[in-house]
Amino acid sequence: MPVYSISHVENVRVCVVMVGLPARGKSLISQKIVRYLSWLSINSKCFNVGNYRRELLKDDIPIDANFFHPDNIDGLKYRQQAIDGAIEDMMRWFSDENGVVGILDATNSTRERREMILKLCRENYIEPMFLESWCDDDELILQNILDVKTTSPDYITKPNEFAMNDFLTRIKNYEKSYETMDSTLDSDLTFIKLVNVNSQIILNRIESYLESRIVYYVMNLHIKPRCIWLSRHGESEFNLTGQIGGDANLSERGWRYAKKLPELVVKSLGEEHKHTNLTVWTSTLKRTQQTASFLPYKKKLQWKALDELDAGECDGMTYEEIEQTFPEDFKARDDNKYEYRYRGGESYRDIVIRLEPIIMELERQENILIITHQAVLRCLYAYFMNVPQEESPWMSIPLHTLIKLEPRAYSTLVTRIKADIPAVSTYKEKGTSQLGEAESPLL
Ligand code: F6P
Repeated sequence: MPVYSISHVENVRVCVVMVGLPARGKSLISQKIVRYLSWLSINSKCFNVGNYRRELLKDDIPIDANFFHPDNIDGLKYRQQAIDGAIEDMMRWFSDENGVVGILDATNSTRERREMILKLCRENYIEPMFLESWCDDDELILQNILDVKTTSPDYITKPNEFAMNDFLTRIKNYEKSYETMDSTLDSDLTFIKLVNVNSQIILNRIESYLESRIVYYVMNLHIKPRCIWLSRHGESEFNLTGQIGGDANLSERGWRYAKKLPELVVKSLGEEHKHTNLTVWTSTLKRTQQTASFLPYKKKLQWKALDELDAGECDGMTYEEIEQTFPEDFKARDDNKYEYRYRGGESYRDIVIRLEPIIMELERQENILIITHQAVLRCLYAYFMNVPQEESPWMSIPLHTLIKLEPRAYSTLVTRIKADIPAVSTYKEKGTSQLGEAESPLL
């Protein structure tokens, strides 16, 4: 039984209807909301109408800017079919799969289209919440165009110049019929209007707790390009003896990793950005601070919330000792590692709950390097990469490896840089108390 779930408290189902011209970061925002809510165990799904349109047309009709002209009768017909398909699937998902937050990712740029969605939501007892991304900041738009142009399935195979011009014309075509959310005309609707991402935010009739959580999350978002680096601490003395928890110092090889980390970070920044300033976050435990000690960046913050999973009565034991002393617990943890809570300690779900403020703050920040621990890093990685709960506690996150995450409109790019400094494996597979892994499940 989940310990924490907004949807269980309220029994509300919400359809977030995205609104906005192309290149306003709608897909990025939609996917982030889905990731965030799923990470908090709220059943959420994004229905991207562009994907339905692509599926419908395959290669039959060339998709260029003309297709999106408001007078293109065929275009309008296919676009209507695409939204109908997406809504039908979304309604089925709400009823058959206990959906809680469905996101309709499309421009939904006319009042007529929004009325149609509103009516369907109301007929199905689903709360509609419009989320408009309105933007007239040319720099932001250009950044988005570049991002979409290089990652959107509509343009990924097209020559650069064509993609850019076509996309600009597509935006112009949408502008012809675009009707923004309006505090007077739409006064009885629930909506959030983000003006230039979050320089101004207009809220109207936000009613449920679930809606206000979504509001709080999007208020913290920015869509400026940035990177997040994740690393475990260097190998510790406890890692050498196979003990879990504690507050041990780094081993000799762990110190070598700490000394090499600045070089790895610079390498991953690339020549052009090598002077970029990062903020470094560590836990309050010695091994993460020692690992950060050679980094030249001035801003270093310690977070209690980044401390390793609290193993309670098992703190300081090896997995073998746990198996011998608490065999039932040992098995229960293997059976459901996400939910299992150590006696007097924590579960993975508990970590996710205490990491929520970290995620919120991380969304507000730009370039951050986080040095933390195996279980905490798994939870953070799961958030960024949308890893399902049952898999995340079993991910392989080796020591002495720097992970770089680059959030993009349609996905997050991951690069791993190995330090080439040996370290023990702290990975325990299911059904054994021995350390070491046959093959890496994810990394
Ligand atoms: O072994 C290193 C460690 O960070 C322990 O302190 C912690 O209990 C453990 O990893 C978490 O990993 P798992 O959830 O796989 O036991």
